[in-house]
Amino acid sequence: MAFNRDIFPRLADRLTQKLLLDQLRLATAPWDPLTGAAQWPEVFVSFGSLAIVKRRVGGYDGRGQWRLHPGDEAALPQDCYGTCIVEQGIAFDGEVSLVGARSADGAQVFYPLTNNVHQDGILRASVAFPTPDSGLQRQAETMLGAILHELDYVGVMAMECFIVGDRLLINELAPRVHNSCHWTQNGASISQFELHLRAILGRLPLPAPVVSAPAVMVNVIGSEVNIDWLTDPLVHLHWYEKEVRAGRKVGHLNLCHPNGKALSRSLQQLMTLLPAAYEHGIRLARQILAD
Ligand SMILES: Nc1ncnc2c1ncn2[C@@H]1O[C@H](COP(=O)(O)OP(=O)(O)OP(=O)(O)O)[C@@H](O)[C@H]1O
Ligand SMILES: [Mg+2]
Repeated sequence: MAFNRDIFPRLADRLTQKLLLDQLRLATAPWDPLTGAAQWPEVFVSFGSLAIVKRRVGGYDGRGQWRLHPGDEAALPQDCYGTCIVEQGIAFDGEVSLVGARSADGAQVFYPLTNNVHQDGILRASVAFPTPDSGLQRQAETMLGAILHELDYVGVMAMECFIVGDRLLINELAPRVHNSCHWTQNGASISQFELHLRAILGRLPLPAPVVSAPAVMVNVIGSEVNIDWLTDPLVHLHWYEKEVRAGRKVGHLNLCHPNGKALSRSLQQLMTLLPAAYEHGIRLARQILAD
């Protein structure tokens, strides 16, 4: 079982990941390797007034990332040159991710697109709906399908995208189960964890997971567990048993219900049991449910 051997290092480095997207002619935020400070005038001419610098390796939850406007360049640590890429800041209409799986015999299955709410670079909440036969879903499946096929990948992979008008731009790839799809633990016939195991072990069938009701996931970030969350029968708590630290993902709450309004009411109730920092994410999640 030598599958996936060279894929992880290739995708863990944003530079080689971007080269793969370019090679496959898949739309992604315009980018360049960041090699020296002399590049800046040209960067702002070609990308416009917002540039995003990202560490090639090791960044997560918005860490290892800088948002720069012209004149901010001096704030960038010197060791970024040679170890980062720079991207155009995208004025997106929304963020979605697609999680799919591929088996060793080349079969591919996908979940419905998940709508993601980020704040300061960290995922606060995700909202998914029963598979809509939408243009975006088809576009996303074609893009991720091409990547899975090109890499001869086996297992679950996530593709994060920006929505710009009716087009998707790939933000990044994650060759693993993904935070934005944790709702599948309670909102899909097969969770992403089971799907991954089925794909890599190759012993069980890999049918497309069925999603029959809207589902929401709220990340618990830097907060202690509160048993009162479970007063609402819709709330499933997944707790990671990690030390609680500011800004650290320590669990998540999943809710699903066939009636979007009932789901939204539960979210509103849940908000009263959470610190103020959750308000923005939950409000946007309720807005996505209402659209
Ligand atoms: N080019 C860009 N234009 C606009 N916003 C961006 C851009 N790149 C990243 N962002 C914002 O920052 C968030 C985090 O960026 P990204 O996914 O690249 O980094 P990350 O730290 O690996 O995040 P995670 O590991 O949590 O997915 C994005 O979801 C998006 O909200
Ligand atoms: Mg990301």
